[in-house]
Amino acid sequence: MSCTCVVGLQWGDEAKGKIVDLLGNEHDFVVRYNGGANAGHTIVWGDRTFKLSLLPTGILKPHLRSVIGNGLVVYPPRLLEEIGQLRSGGINVGANLAVSDHCHVIFPYHMEEERAVEQGGGAVIGTTGRGIGPCYQDKVGRTGGIRMGELLYPEHLRERLKSIVPRKNRIIAALATGPEKPRQFDANEIGDEYLKHADALKPYITDTAKLLQDGLKAGKKIIFEGAQGSLLDIDHGTYPYVTSSNSLPGGIANGCGIPARNVTRIVGVVKAYTTRVGKGPFPTELDDGPNGIGERIRKIGREYGTVTGRPRRVGWFDVVAVRYTAALAGADEVTVMLLDVLSGLKELAICTGYQIDGRRIDSFPSDAFLLQRCKPLYETLPGWEMDLTSARKKSDLPIEALKYVDRLSELLGLRVSLVSVGPDREQSISI
Ligand code: IMP
Repeated sequence: MSCTCVVGLQWGDEAKGKIVDLLGNEHDFVVRYNGGANAGHTIVWGDRTFKLSLLPTGILKPHLRSVIGNGLVVYPPRLLEEIGQLRSGGINVGANLAVSDHCHVIFPYHMEEERAVEQGGGAVIGTTGRGIGPCYQDKVGRTGGIRMGELLYPEHLRERLKSIVPRKNRIIAALATGPEKPRQFDANEIGDEYLKHADALKPYITDTAKLLQDGLKAGKKIIFEGAQGSLLDIDHGTYPYVTSSNSLPGGIANGCGIPARNVTRIVGVVKAYTTRVGKGPFPTELDDGPNGIGERIRKIGREYGTVTGRPRRVGWFDVVAVRYTAALAGADEVTVMLLDVLSGLKELAICTGYQIDGRRIDSFPSDAFLLQRCKPLYETLPGWEMDLTSARKKSDLPIEALKYVDRLSELLGLRVSLVSVGPDREQSISI
């Protein structure tokens, strides 16, 4: 039995897709267990570019069966758009895709509800606006949630919408602030639209827990693709500035119906620095203006959100945070991505502790209100000038880059198994 989980150990966008791609050939299934179309991967294949946010990145490998586990929230128009985009790019999507009948469905009223909350002032999260939070709220609230399997029963679906939509309209109207009239929805129109989507998605909707359990019994190998980073995990992340699902590997068992003990290898993915999109505390943030190091890293690393296009916030590597998430994830190893982006900096800083209320702490206070008060304590290392993008083996790296990676490994207490110096497969160095 061999299952691998690839999980980001920061605030997301760690380039997990590349690691899934590198490990894909050793596996039979690639499975997402959390989130929805809030994740974003840009995949460049020769002259073709695919932007995926809901489908697992493994969909590009024809031998892999791609699975959207029950822990996801699915917006059918987006799923169909991604399938269409791949097909028109010559990628086969058919029996190689399975979508859990237990995924919760995102409706347009979820996005409207989120818009009303996020624009309502007060404590906003800075979400991706994809309806993720409101859909998960309906899931745990039970009375308003609709699952993918229900889309296949027209009369039942219409009945459910008839009772849910008027209530949603009242909620949205109550939440709305400002001069703009809140959008209101019609149960029949939504029913008509979603029944069309259901027809198109029917071939993929199935009991994916059973599919994966049968696969394991037959000796198949699974790779789990964590979406969002561990610091965005609903339970262990920087609450409330988190996403609404369990992005840590703890989400696998519930998010796809495979017992936790089957996961035998956990690969933690980190950037050589840190980024974050949306609001929330970020102790090592480099908020140093248009000519500062933060902006330089943002430009060179193309640090703009794939889903929303927002500029990502950029900062130094935070060992305190990653030690915390690596322990929660049970990471066996880490891969350090985007090391090439740091070339040309005279000095690099690594955060090794925090100061809070005049005391030094080495543990991570994940509650946002406490983390907000933490000041980073740094150690510095010399940088390097050399462009790393054509390095292919360890001995091609300058000594300063190797020392930087070694120091991260030492401080994290984890083996660095791979360093990435560019988006291509070849730009990967085994360490
Ligand atoms: P939501 O997941 O859209 O509800 O957004 C909640 C928070 O998670 C916001 O700060 C988002 O910017 C962030 N977030 C959600 N998905 C991702 C991702 O894939 N990468 C990075 N940040 C994300």
